[in-house]
Amino acid sequence: MTIQPHGGKLINRLCSEEEKGELLARSRELPKSLLSKREVSDLELLATGVYSPLQGFMNSEAYNSVVDSMHLPNGLPWALPIVHAVSEDFADGVSEGDEIALVDGEGAVLGMMEVTDKFTFDPKKEAREVYRTDDLEHPGVAALHDMPPVLLGGPVTAIHLPGHDPIFQEYLLTPRETRYFFKYKGWDRVVAFQTRNPIHRAHEYIQKCALEMVDALLIHPLIGETKAGDIPADVRMKCYEVLIDNYYPPERAYLSVFPAAMRYAGPREAIFHSICRKNYGCTHFIVGRDHAGVGNYYGTYDAQKIFSEFDPQAIGITPMFFDYTFYCRACGHMASDKTCAHDAGDHVFLSGTKVREMLREGKDLPDEFTRPEISYILLEAFKTQEF
Ligand code: ADX
Repeated sequence: MTIQPHGGKLINRLCSEEEKGELLARSRELPKSLLSKREVSDLELLATGVYSPLQGFMNSEAYNSVVDSMHLPNGLPWALPIVHAVSEDFADGVSEGDEIALVDGEGAVLGMMEVTDKFTFDPKKEAREVYRTDDLEHPGVAALHDMPPVLLGGPVTAIHLPGHDPIFQEYLLTPRETRYFFKYKGWDRVVAFQTRNPIHRAHEYIQKCALEMVDALLIHPLIGETKAGDIPADVRMKCYEVLIDNYYPPERAYLSVFPAAMRYAGPREAIFHSICRKNYGCTHFIVGRDHAGVGNYYGTYDAQKIFSEFDPQAIGITPMFFDYTFYCRACGHMASDKTCAHDAGDHVFLSGTKVREMLREGKDLPDEFTRPEISYILLEAFKTQEF
């Protein structure tokens, strides 16, 4: 039995081939609104139903309801605002009921939007509610303060999906496609793994523990915009390919990509990530330590605790929680805070900062932390690009 999409119906806001010509011609006459990189990703995710039940960028009622209560006005859980921000000048030229064309940084028309609402927002309030901090050092908060001041809400129609680096192309599946694929494989219970990092031993361990409980594993790395210092998605993709080809059972593990931007909203983003994966047809979702966190803004398990604030039926997808995991020299294998009897002196785990420091110095990462193939790919990549 397939899991229901959020809200019961998978949304499709991508026009058909037959409609394309007419929509493109119409869009040429419309005011052109520039999408940020994050909004380009959001348009793709709206169009393909990853954001079901959303049909477009949020209006003020939905925005305020999500910021204040983590639910949409109809009562469904939804944890992050999905908005299109424009300058005051552009907003002044648009009235409610108007159509606008949505364009990317190169000026290419990607879609259209019927503007049903025009409103302002308070970035400080959103920062406190959504990110739990108003510190401008937080990348999500900084992005919020860089946004133009007026939000336009309304349903969108995508004419083209945004282009991606060819390395991602074969891994880009829409929710309709993953759902079809799971059915074809006979996978009833699929656990999704979100990541913005290369897969290290701890990730592999929690994925495989989760896989012991269900039919299949969807490795679902995020490939949208990430902050400076995160390892670029094209480099990570090479790591995922080596791992999936050599260390995962092909009949039970599948690699696909999640074309969303990172917000670094920790707990709220864990809810958001899980609902998106429900729309892809996954029944379970891994939430480990400091999911979608950055710096020290969130407690190690805040992204797990937040699930208790929701009705599990309304979330629909089942979270699988994992404690902080590492290699333990005394155990002689991977273990976690929950299963290890030894103290931190026996544990091998490296922070992102330490990993970058070692790569910069050309040092292999320890075998207990990551597989040698991954260390090699990262060292090679670091020779030509700094991250
Ligand atoms: S995230 O921003 O996508 O959450 P990352 O790629 O590091 O970052 O983590 C992917 C998933 O693995 C998240 O659910 C995270 O909580 C979990 N995770 C990462 N490292 C560990 C670890 N050492 N122990 C337990 N869970 C972990």
